[in-house]
Amino acid sequence: MKIYRDINELRSNLKSSSTIAFVPTMGNLHAGHLALVKQAQQQADHVVVSIFVNRLQFLPHEDFDRYPRTFEEDCSVLSGLNVNTLFAPDEKILFPTQQDFLLALPPVADTLEGEFRPGFFRGVATIVLKLFNIIQPDIAIFGKKDYQQLHIVREMVKQLNIPVEVLAGETVRTADGLALSSRNRYLNTSQRTEACYLYQALLHTKQKIISGQKNFSELQQQATTWLENRGWKVDYLRIHNRLSFMPAQTDDQDLILLGAAWLDKTRLIDNLEI
Ligand code: PAF
Repeated sequence: MKIYRDINELRSNLKSSSTIAFVPTMGNLHAGHLALVKQAQQQADHVVVSIFVNRLQFLPHEDFDRYPRTFEEDCSVLSGLNVNTLFAPDEKILFPTQQDFLLALPPVADTLEGEFRPGFFRGVATIVLKLFNIIQPDIAIFGKKDYQQLHIVREMVKQLNIPVEVLAGETVRTADGLALSSRNRYLNTSQRTEACYLYQALLHTKQKIISGQKNFSELQQQATTWLENRGWKVDYLRIHNRLSFMPAQTDDQDLILLGAAWLDKTRLIDNLEI
């Protein structure tokens, strides 16, 4: 595996590749990331993974400084998987001057995650666009774990005519259902045991919808109360249309349940398609 920190060197390495599949990450790789890498390897002859903890997508009070950085372990995992190229730039490579050009995003970016983390998707979209411009991949793979991010990247690609095909990777879960996330490592033992109940809340709600319950606001409230009674602080638990990403209407078919909730100081998100 070749490791690049510099944009020009990366670009000359990529010149001779016929198809490039790209997996953007913030590092601290887990089995969810590795599944995206394997998916990428089935799609293209050259796989590029990036590791960059993007300051633009953290609010000032959030965990940018303590976000887990495990570069050496990440490198050995990626080279064990025979990844062709790792792009791991320093901040001064991606932001040689202050990043004043930021994308303006549609209203969907101010809902759900965007409501609780204002500016988050602007930071994500801006860095993803920069990485697309630098790497110029044919295919890019984003996990469904961050479903709203996947939706926004897809819309950005469509509306800005970016020549990349965006593919979705399935969420990888532990045996008890917890979606893999770098932030899971913030959980202590009892919180880790409790953490799978966010997924349980989504599963129960899904079952109620499948069995015909249509009062979505009541279902959202029930799931929220259920989690709150277990000690969670719920930011949102909502039922949306997964194509428009608007709150679901009674007769919508393509639904997605999305939740974000805190266990003490750790914020977890999850979602479930219906
Ligand atoms: O999903 C992530 O890890 C990040 O949001 C991404 C896409 C790498 C952009 O920083």
